[in-house]
Amino acid sequence: MTLYRQVAENLAQDIRQGIYDEGDKVPSVRGLSKRLSVSISTVTQAYALLEDQGLIQSRPQSGYYVREGANDHFIAPPVSKGGLPEEVTKVDLISKVLRSASQPGLIKLGAAIPDISLLPFRGVQNHVQKVARFQGHEAFNYQFSPGLESLRQQIAKRMRHIKVRCHPDDIIITNGATEAIFLSLSSVCSAGDIIAVESPCYYGYLQMAQRQGLKVIEIPTDPVQGMSLDALQLALNQWPVKAICLTSRFSNPSGASISTDKQQAMMQLLQQFPDITVIEDDIYGELGFSGELNTTLKTFDRSNQVIYCSSYSKTVAAGLHVGWCIPGKFYQDIKEGQMFSSLSASSLCQQVMSSYLEQGHYDKHLRKMVQSFKDNLDGFANLIRMHFPEGTRLSVPTGSFILWLCLPSNISALQLQALAEKESISIVPGDIFTTGNQFSNYIRLNCSLPRDERNKQAIIRLGQLASQLAAA
Ligand SMILES: Cc1ncc(COP(=O)(O)O)c(C=O)c1O
Repeated sequence: MTLYRQVAENLAQDIRQGIYDEGDKVPSVRGLSKRLSVSISTVTQAYALLEDQGLIQSRPQSGYYVREGANDHFIAPPVSKGGLPEEVTKVDLISKVLRSASQPGLIKLGAAIPDISLLPFRGVQNHVQKVARFQGHEAFNYQFSPGLESLRQQIAKRMRHIKVRCHPDDIIITNGATEAIFLSLSSVCSAGDIIAVESPCYYGYLQMAQRQGLKVIEIPTDPVQGMSLDALQLALNQWPVKAICLTSRFSNPSGASISTDKQQAMMQLLQQFPDITVIEDDIYGELGFSGELNTTLKTFDRSNQVIYCSSYSKTVAAGLHVGWCIPGKFYQDIKEGQMFSSLSASSLCQQVMSSYLEQGHYDKHLRKMVQSFKDNLDGFANLIRMHFPEGTRLSVPTGSFILWLCLPSNISALQLQALAEKESISIVPGDIFTTGNQFSNYIRLNCSLPRDERNKQAIIRLGQLASQLAAA
């Protein structure tokens, strides 16, 4: 753990244990730096992190104070429990939940899709027109695997932001991250194999595992720091795991991120298991608030064990559905797999994405969007603290736009979903992010929606419904 994270974690513990109460002033930056013999900038970074997590707030010309509600609500959900390898039997429930969460007319607090108002809608529209007009020939023709060269060049350049050096020829453009992950799983695994996932994990991994006849073992995961390496090691020693499928930064739904130190440790651990492949899904990676976590598992992949997958679905437009993977030793197999299944991603969408990236407004757009996510997460988290029943726990992630809430244990998230839906509010219950039932009192909320009166009222109403269920 980096020094400033240690400083932040120590102070967070003091707050959780009540050493500093709500409204109390915490040590000044200068005072703490002196006491701990660390630099001012270390403490400043630690305080920025605690502010991001909603534990403290600064008051102009006065210093930092513990925020209202910090002691009851800022405790992150507990570290989840792992399990045994299981077949996935929940796809019907997943489909049912997703179907009802995406009905038209609902306030979509459940979907993991950035609100359209924050996406570069006009920019993309202009590029669609430009491409159709000037590159119609190529854009309306097939574009075979591995995909458009100019787009692969752009992506290879951007991979350097996370310290991954790759050549455009190492990249395959896919139909979103979904195709990248699906093809990776089918290249690495055969029916009956075991894959390890975070607990909770993105439900899409469970659907894919079911489709390919794979068993899933869930690894205990901390909602802040990600998958437990000790538990992972135990599972790898005990079971013939073929692949680890995980979202390494700002995971869905927990918001957990694996820190740079832990990424290194994980890759070192995996060198002891050279036959295991990591399918790293980094679809939310560019949505960090501080820009600080700028490495991934792929950065430290000295043994060619990581297939990196990502897409522009959460940053530009899910409808373009442009993704990619860097398959390493599985390149040929994944390319052939794609040729047999879809030939490649849509030519038009690849041309549009390439043209959009080439114009150079992407980073500016990301900065703006991420600032809105951060403001919204803070705002919605505060509402939750005020209106949700006592005992609610949430961790506010340091990137992306998803909140993962642990409600009092007597609440059924599926029941809450049904009640909320009657009031035109959609949420996603925790049940679909696991093969078991350990998250049946959890919900995932999309906090990218504008904080207008309608959406605020929806959060308040949800809190009231949860309180009714808690009291029942
Ligand atoms: C973690 C994760 N991976 C993959 C996907 C799907 O990505 P794409 O739209 O690029 O196929 C999602 C969508 O919600 C996701 O949350």
